Amino acid sequence: MQDRRLTILAAIVFSHFQIAWATEPTAEQIEALSLKPNIENGRKVYHNCAICHGAEAWGTLTGHYPQLAGQHPNVIIKQLADIRAGNRDNPTMLPFASQEAMGGAQCMTDIAAYLSQLPMNPNNEVGFGRDLEYGKKIYQEHCVKCHGENGEGNNGEFYPRLQGQSYHYLLRQMRWIQLGKRRNANKTMVQQIHNFTGRDITAVVDYASRLKADAAKLAQPNWRNPDFSPDFKSAVRFHNENYQLNQK
Ligand code: HEC
Ligand code: HEC
Repeated sequence: MQDRRLTILAAIVFSHFQIAWATEPTAEQIEALSLKPNIENGRKVYHNCAICHGAEAWGTLTGHYPQLAGQHPNVIIKQLADIRAGNRDNPTMLPFASQEAMGGAQCMTDIAAYLSQLPMNPNNEVGFGRDLEYGKKIYQEHCVKCHGENGEGNNGEFYPRLQGQSYHYLLRQMRWIQLGKRRNANKTMVQQIHNFTGRDITAVVDYASRLKADAAKLAQPNWRNPDFSPDFKSAVRFHNENYQLNQK
């Protein structure tokens, strides 16, 4: 029964995305998209992720680790599934996000629900602001169709929210998508930015880094995630050591 349901779901997803998707959705992704989220479990699963993405899930200021808070749940599920299936490289993260370390499809659904409802960083890193008129022109011509007028993305279509993401992370992803290093990227987007010059990319990313989510999605200044104690990093380590002992 479960298998039949997945096959039908797979058929719907494939027929809808056949043209633009670079890689076919994995069975795990399709299953995760069909499950009912348990936010409380997502909160627990997120503990190990917070070592890099931070207690608030705002990532790091200069974008080595991206903000995950406020991202669309379907986008989080797809990126996790792609990283686990080797369709998007992320060797530093994989040991933490593997099925063994993090759990199966249900955990992906749960963590996506938890992250998407966290308030976003109101003060993310932005670019140098030297070429914004030009950046706006490019954004409106080439990006609005998918990422939205205000960088809000689209959950149903798996278009990431760009709002509030750090400038350097956006810049790195644009370059990797253009070079084909991020293999899971949407084919239409790859074609769209294929001939972009360095100036085009820097300007459009600078513009995009300044797009803000609705005030209701932004955190109050100095907000701290109450799900984490101030010394959560040592707590995570303690949990891991205990976990390993229990497994022996
Ligand atoms: C060791 C550090 C590390 C840990 C732990 C980690 N991540 Fe990541 N994660 C990264 C890095 C680095 C990137 C960005 C990689 C890139 O530039 O493509 C990333 C990217 C992501 C993305 C893609 C974001 C986007 O906008 O496309 C998601 C989703 C994600 N991580 C979720 C998680 C979850 C869930 C966990 C816990 C199970 C986790 N990460 C644990 C380092 C980590
Ligand atoms: C045809 C639709 C489409 C167009 C047009 C498009 N994108 Fe995308 N973009 C996507 C999709 C889908 C993804 C996620 C791909 C994946 O699954 O990895 C993405 C990913 C991204 C990412 C990585 C986000 C993250 O969180 O990791 C950035 C940055 C980005 N796009 C910027 C742009 C900019 C800037 C433009 C205009 C120059 C643009 N895109 C045009 C569909 C599009």
